[in-house]
Amino acid sequence: MGASNSIVNPFCSFLILGLLLLFANAVPLENAKTHYHDFVVQATKVKRLCKTHNTITVNGQFPGPTLEVNNGDTLVVNVVNRARYNVTIHWHGIRQMRTAWADGPEFVTQCPIRPGGSYTYRFTIEGQEGTLWWHAHSSWLRATVYGGLIILPKEGTSYPFPKPKRETPLLLGEWWDANPIDVVREATRTGAAPNVSDAYTINGQPGDLYKCSSKDTVIVPVDSGETNLIRVINAGLNQQLFFTIANHKLTVVGADASYLKPFTTSVIMLGPGQTTDVLITADQPPARYYIAARAYASAQGAPFDNTTTTAILEYKTAPCPAKGSSTTPISPSLPAYNDTNTSTAFTTSLRSPQKAPVPSDIDENLLFTVGLGLINCPSGTRARNCQGPNGTRFTASMNNVSFVLPSNFSLLQAHQQGIPGVFTTDFPAAPPVKFDYTGNVSQSLWQPVKGTKVYKLKYGARVQLVLQGTSIFTAENHPIHLHGYDFYIIAEGFGNFNPKTDTAKFNLVDPPMRNTASVPVNGWAAIRFVADNPGTNN
Ligand SMILES: *[C@@H]1O[C@H](CO)[C@@H](O)[C@H](O)[C@H]1NC(C)=O
Ligand SMILES: *[C@@H]1O[C@H](CO)[C@@H](O)[C@H](O)[C@H]1NC(C)=O
Ligand SMILES: *[C@@H]1O[C@H](CO)[C@@H](O)[C@H](O)[C@H]1NC(C)=O
Ligand SMILES: *[C@@H]1O[C@H](CO)[C@@H](O)[C@H](O)[C@H]1NC(C)=O
Ligand SMILES: *[C@@H]1O[C@H](CO)[C@@H](O)[C@H](O)[C@H]1NC(C)=O
Ligand SMILES: *[C@@H]1O[C@H](CO)[C@@H](O)[C@H](O)[C@H]1NC(C)=O
Ligand SMILES: *[C@@H]1O[C@H](CO)[C@@H](O)[C@H](O)[C@H]1NC(C)=O
Ligand SMILES: *[C@@H]1O[C@H](CO)[C@@H](O)[C@H](O)[C@H]1NC(C)=O
Ligand SMILES: *[C@@H]1O[C@H](CO)[C@@H](O)[C@H](O)[C@H]1NC(C)=O
Repeated sequence: MGASNSIVNPFCSFLILGLLLLFANAVPLENAKTHYHDFVVQATKVKRLCKTHNTITVNGQFPGPTLEVNNGDTLVVNVVNRARYNVTIHWHGIRQMRTAWADGPEFVTQCPIRPGGSYTYRFTIEGQEGTLWWHAHSSWLRATVYGGLIILPKEGTSYPFPKPKRETPLLLGEWWDANPIDVVREATRTGAAPNVSDAYTINGQPGDLYKCSSKDTVIVPVDSGETNLIRVINAGLNQQLFFTIANHKLTVVGADASYLKPFTTSVIMLGPGQTTDVLITADQPPARYYIAARAYASAQGAPFDNTTTTAILEYKTAPCPAKGSSTTPISPSLPAYNDTNTSTAFTTSLRSPQKAPVPSDIDENLLFTVGLGLINCPSGTRARNCQGPNGTRFTASMNNVSFVLPSNFSLLQAHQQGIPGVFTTDFPAAPPVKFDYTGNVSQSLWQPVKGTKVYKLKYGARVQLVLQGTSIFTAENHPIHLHGYDFYIIAEGFGNFNPKTDTAKFNLVDPPMRNTASVPVNGWAAIRFVADNPGTNN
């Protein structure tokens, strides 16, 4: 695995290399459709927080277009790069069975599309229904280059819940009052953590609580009595978010394009990359209610964006505000920023709708640590390039490897064509040094090694992977996304995973299926999947 990269690339992730060759594309189902889209990546003037930026967008839209398909359909998206940066597009959560080269992460499955270039992504959605999204997968372009990807039930079938009256995607984002590429380049240059965002957004709008924003606050209309589906997507780069709607219960019915056993809650938590589908019933007195999201910030002492983004749930029969009077929408209460209990209560409530085919016999039993690291600056480094804590450079790692992207071939191409020297296959199956991962970690362990290492899996292998958070420098909740796969989250817990006692917590009956796990702060998450999708998946 090419494990996690630097702190500036938080979809830290691991890389699995299938051993089989790729198959020819499957023949689409008879009534399945093929949808063609053109995405022109271009600079567009976007004004937020009183300031206009030359923002990189798709087709001049911020956020970009939300695509809608049925399960079984094929998408063909021709991406034309008219921006001044390299770009690729990742279809977050799409399984990409036998189409690994359409997945998108730069230098993993493809070389980036250069300015002036183009690339056509073609893939079929197989057996997935619900809410996903797409985003740029090159540097920090995804701060503004993203949109929803909604997968409706297969033609002729319906939801496993009563058909909602309306459906509304709500994409939560992070906005920098700067060029996001400058923000990440500054962090790379100085070695410090990147600047936190200046606003969160809902469908691109910060909402009433920010300067110069309230006239554009997103309105979500409802009629008394109806039940609507809200598709919540955390399209932010770095920040876990709590999401709630004042006075309304949320009935959770899906996450990451897999259905869930419905349950009711007042607040949900989404890590970056995660989606959650909720039903809401308009059963309150006709009025205007705030929809709100703000940080779940689990790292102690680390700076974070503590602002709150809002949209408005507006009953059609709500009394019109009298001229000149300010009728502020009804506000929800949000959990405290560091309310790990609320986050845990939510993530441990998720269940598959019925008994799930969780692999029971395991061929590969893996333990990967995930966390921060601090790299000592080589002697002679200028102080301005060494601005991490105590004169170091910030990084992140898995099993003590800080992933370095190749710069001349993609991993998939190097694998397919047998090009040596691009990656090595010695990513460790377990931490090279065992220590008290969540304790007071000795500083002699803080410095990872850099490498482009992958872990090889045999086609068909049944894999258990325990993701173990570390408290190196500081502990925090880490979003871990696996490309090209959904996996069952069979358990999570705090402290160090104990294989003798914690297996008792495993839910092998109806665990939730997701594509992105939130590894608890100072804790662990155990996932299982079958390696049935050849390619390089990070
Ligand atoms: C852009 O992509 C090309 C390969 O497609 C690569 O050679 C070049 O280094 C990339 N540029 C940057 C700034 O990453
Ligand atoms: C990051 O934040 C610092 C402090 O507020 C500011 O001086 C700097 O310009 C910011 N960097 C970018 C790239 O916006
Ligand atoms: C957010 O943080 C700033 C300091 O960075 C502080 O002044 C402010 O009170 C905080 N706001 C909230 C709502 O916590
Ligand atoms: C959460 O933050 C509050 C102050 O903002 C602090 O008093 C409390 O101890 C923190 N709780 C945890 C679990 O860190
Ligand atoms: C969080 O949960 C733990 C364990 O259930 C409990 O001891 C603690 O009091 C809770 N903290 C808060 C702030 O609710
Ligand atoms: C800072 O660096 C010094 C010298 O390398 C070391 O002795 C000290 O423990 C470090 N402190 C922290 C908080 O990292
Ligand atoms: C480019 O690829 C070759 C393999 O052909 C490898 O040996 C070399 O180290 C790579 N160069 C860089 C700069 O990554
Ligand atoms: C962690 O360990 C270091 C070195 O052993 C010690 O100096 C420090 O006080 C310890 N910190 C805590 C919070 O226990
Ligand atoms: C990571 O590897 C470096 C270099 O071998 C070593 O100094 C460090 O202690 C290791 N840390 C861990 C957590 O394994």
